Amino acid sequence: MHWPTSLPLLCSTILPFVTGSLALPKARSNKHYAIMDNDWYTAGFVPYLIALDGGVDVLGLASDTANSWQPQVALHAVATLEAGNLSCIPVYPGATWPLINTPERFQAWETIHGKLPWEGAFAPENKTLEAQGNDPTSGNPNRIVKEAFKEGYPKGKPDNSTSAANFMVEMVHKYPGQVSIYSAGSLTNIALAVRMDPQFASLAKDLVIMGGYVDLNMLEATGSIMLADYQSDINLMIDPEASKIALTADFPEITIAGNVANQVFPTKEFVEEVASVKNPYSELFSKYYDLSFPFWDETAAALMVDPSLATNQTSVYLDVDTSYGSPNYGNIHVYQKALAPGGIRQVNYVFEVDADKLKNRVKHALQYPKTCADLKK
Ligand SMILES: *[C@@H]1O[C@H](CO)[C@@H](O)[C@H](O)[C@H]1NC(C)=O
Ligand SMILES: *[C@@H]1O[C@H](CO)[C@@H](O)[C@H](O)[C@H]1NC(C)=O
Ligand SMILES: *[C@@H]1O[C@H](CO)[C@@H](O)[C@H](O)[C@H]1NC(C)=O
Ligand SMILES: *[C@@H]1O[C@H](CO)[C@@H](O)[C@H](O)[C@H]1NC(C)=O
Repeated sequence: MHWPTSLPLLCSTILPFVTGSLALPKARSNKHYAIMDNDWYTAGFVPYLIALDGGVDVLGLASDTANSWQPQVALHAVATLEAGNLSCIPVYPGATWPLINTPERFQAWETIHGKLPWEGAFAPENKTLEAQGNDPTSGNPNRIVKEAFKEGYPKGKPDNSTSAANFMVEMVHKYPGQVSIYSAGSLTNIALAVRMDPQFASLAKDLVIMGGYVDLNMLEATGSIMLADYQSDINLMIDPEASKIALTADFPEITIAGNVANQVFPTKEFVEEVASVKNPYSELFSKYYDLSFPFWDETAAALMVDPSLATNQTSVYLDVDTSYGSPNYGNIHVYQKALAPGGIRQVNYVFEVDADKLKNRVKHALQYPKTCADLKK
C-alpha cells in the first residue's frame, strides 16, 4: 500500500517512457474521488457542485455536528441533492455527538474564557429562532426543525446502511490513494475513521479542511463582532479532540483552508450574474446565500479540486490545543520543523488563492450543475 507516496518519484524518473503505453490504466487509476463531510444547510450545495464540476467523483456526503446537529444537517444534504436531481449521491449519517464535548461543557468553557460570536450547534436552544427557520442548536440533538428547510423538505432519507466513518474506511480501501476527504464542519467522523482503522489516513489521497485560523486574536478584539465571527474557529472548536486526531493522522497530504477562507466574498453583482442562468441551484443560491460571509466551504472545495488555486502557501507543523483550561481550546498552533513537538506533522497552510479562478469555479458549478444523468455518462 505504499504506491501513493512512491508514485510521484516513479513518474518523475520514467514518465516519458510510460505515458503512451500505460495511457488507459493510468487514466483509470488517476480518477479522483471524494467524500464530503459537512454541516449541510439550505445554501450549502456549492462545495459538492464545485467538486462535480471539477470532474471529481463524489462517492458520498457525510453529515456532522457543527453549525447545527448532525440529524438535521444530514436531511439538508438529502434535500439539496434532491433539488437538482443529484439523489444518486448517497448521504451517510455521521456522529451526532463530538467525542467528549457537549453544549453544557462548551457553555461552561465560555463562562471562563469568553463567548464566541458564533456558537454553532452549542448556542442555547431558541424556539423563536427555530420557528423563524433557524436550524436547531442545543436541546435534543435528534429533533428536526422543518421550518429550516427553505430548499424544500426532503422526500428521501440519509442512507443509514452504514455510518459516515465506516463508509470512509471502506472507500479508501476500495480506491487506495484516490479518495479526498473533505471536511468543512467538525472532524468527528474523520477522527473515528482514523481510530477505527490504522490504515485509513494513509490510504486516502488527502484531507482538505475548512477551518484552522491562526494569528487573528487582535482582530477579534479590535474589530466588529462580525469581524470576530470571521476569525472564530467553530468547526474545530465543536470537537477539539477529534480535530487533533484528524490533523495529526498520516494522510499523504493535509491542506488547511483557514485564514484564506476569509479572502473572497460574494457580491450582489456576482449573485445576479450567477442567477442569470436559471436552474434550481442558481435560484436557491441567489435567494439564500448570505452575502455577509466569505466563500468559506467553497474555498476549501475548490482547493481540493485544484490545489494550484493556491497562490501563496507554506508548509508548517500543526497542532490543535486540546486543553480545556486554555482560551485557545480547539484552536490550532503552528511550528517550524526544528521547534515542533513530537506526534504532529506537516500540513499545507494556504494564505492566498487566485480569487478570479475561485469565483469562476463557483459560478460555473452553479450555472451548469451536474445531474445524475450526467454522472452516469
Ligand atoms: C430532474 O429530473 C426530472 C425528471 O427526469 C426533470 O423533469 C427535471 O427537469 C430535472 N431537473 C433538473 C434540474 O435537471
Ligand atoms: C431568541 O432569539 C430571539 C430572536 O433573535 C431573541 O430576541 C431572544 O432574546 C432569544 N431568546 C433567548 C432565550 O436567547
Ligand atoms: C435507518 O434508520 C431508521 C430509523 O432509525 C430505521 O427505521 C431504518 O430501518 C434504518 N435503515 C437502514 C437501512 O438501516
Ligand atoms: C504569503 O503570505 C504570507 C502571510 O500572509 C506573507 O507574509 C507573505 O508575504 C506572502 N508572500 C507573498 C509572496 O505574497
